[in-house]
Amino acid sequence: LREIDGCYLPVIRVPHDQEEEFRGRSDWSARPDDILICAYPKSGTHWLWEIACMLLNGNAERIHLMKEMSMVECLSRSGLDSMTSPRVLNTHLYYGQIPEDFKRKQCKMIYILRNPRDVAVSFFNHHTRLLDYEYDGNWQQYLPRFIEGKVDYGSWFDYVVDWETTMNKNQQNPAHVVTYEDLQKDCVKEVSRLATFLKTEGTATLYADIAEQCNFKKMKKEKDPLEDTTEWKDHKPGMYRKGVVGDWKNWFTVAQSDMFDTVYKEKLNNVTLPVPYT
Ligand code: A3P
Repeated sequence: LREIDGCYLPVIRVPHDQEEEFRGRSDWSARPDDILICAYPKSGTHWLWEIACMLLNGNAERIHLMKEMSMVECLSRSGLDSMTSPRVLNTHLYYGQIPEDFKRKQCKMIYILRNPRDVAVSFFNHHTRLLDYEYDGNWQQYLPRFIEGKVDYGSWFDYVVDWETTMNKNQQNPAHVVTYEDLQKDCVKEVSRLATFLKTEGTATLYADIAEQCNFKKMKKEKDPLEDTTEWKDHKPGMYRKGVVGDWKNWFTVAQSDMFDTVYKEKLNNVTLPVPYT
């Protein structure tokens, strides 16, 4: 991990030769029709990005691109400028770290939240299975690290509080909030809700098709060939791991869950966002 301008970023996302580019991002230009998906890592960004791209394209055909290619922190300024509109971008940066022009131009933002205990489990598997991290700690060692925010992009708690205080309360950008759990519960409904926010034209059949094309099994099967297997432990890509709600119950001990609860209550005291937490 490296710290650039107060952001903890994985070296694989922002290689050393792109550091200056990243530092200059406050000057990057946005376009009024840009759409920005904002999420703490492991919250379902790939899923939502795929859905949003299909809605914009007006069909349920798979997007044969990797989400990472439209990730603000992985792009160079010229890479961003060369993308065709409308651009569906994504980022794990805090609201305050996003290039200012996205705020000035009032770009639409989609914010996805997921139960932080499931996020912790998913991130643990990400960190231990993606070889570049060289992390070999066990779950017991990892959880306090996650809670303290000693991971890429910092603390989940700070991320949510940042969004609440800078974005949610002030309504700086038009924003649509969705949860991973609601996507699991009724994906068609969430696709339709998102279409209303994005003002894309579509039918109930299209929304159902999109939900079907983006189901976990299909995305796992079709996306894997795009992931470089050599980057993963045992050559098994892990971006699409389990794709369920509540896996945390298989990992947390009662003591770990209690510890998490204490921090959660303390830090998220004033948050009004619909954080899934059961
Ligand atoms: P798990 O590790 O719990 O399986 P992100 O895209 O933000 O990195 O989030 C990754 C998490 O979303 C992983 O969670 C991944 O399996 C899950 N995921 C990705 N696509 C999904 C889909 N179509 N349906 C359900 N879960 C999905």
